[in-house]
Amino acid sequence: MSNFNVAVLISGNGSNLQAIINKFQKDESVNVSCVVSNKKDAYGLVRAEKAKIDNYFVDDKNFSSREEFEQAVINILDKYEPDLVVLAGFMRILSGLFVNKYENKLINIHPSLLPKYKGLDTHRKVLENQDEYHGVTVHFVDNTLDGGPILAQRRTLVETQDIKELEAKIHELEHEIYPEVIKDIAQKQIYVLNGKVIKEK
Ligand code: GAR
Repeated sequence: MSNFNVAVLISGNGSNLQAIINKFQKDESVNVSCVVSNKKDAYGLVRAEKAKIDNYFVDDKNFSSREEFEQAVINILDKYEPDLVVLAGFMRILSGLFVNKYENKLINIHPSLLPKYKGLDTHRKVLENQDEYHGVTVHFVDNTLDGGPILAQRRTLVETQDIKELEAKIHELEHEIYPEVIKDIAQKQIYVLNGKVIKEK
């Protein structure tokens, strides 16, 4: 088993988590060591359980501030000493407390070609604006919404007006690109030097 430990934070279905689990069950360059959700009914917790990965629910409603919630998550993550914290549909903005703790070790995937369409409803916005392309972005996280240096993007022609079909296509791209980027970080093909993202390939 790899000693490159990854912690995954989720809020929902966890299809990206599943893609990550599937990839690194076969390819042992990364060890998915724990999963944390801020939603009790997140299906991603079931996926983690099925894959025998330690998983936790931390109820953000139990804390009076963003920082207290984040500290509770950090206390869990500390046990695993993650080399990388992966946000996979984790739908909360993180404060400086969390972002600084995991500086250059915290990544997110977002369903748009950032900087276009930060926030929610990206597929609807793409269709409404009749964009030719839609896509996905993996980025390091800073403490702005869907902000931080971009690591990788993948795009696709918008060939449907059906939002569900478009979303499914975007999920396909996400499930390819996210495990690839995680592997590249584990293998030091992507890293940060003097505040700049360096890609070796
Ligand atoms: C994914 O499409 C991800 O890009 C998005 O949430 C979805 C989670 O799906 N994240 C964001 O919008 C973050 N701003 P999943 O739970 O099936 O992986």
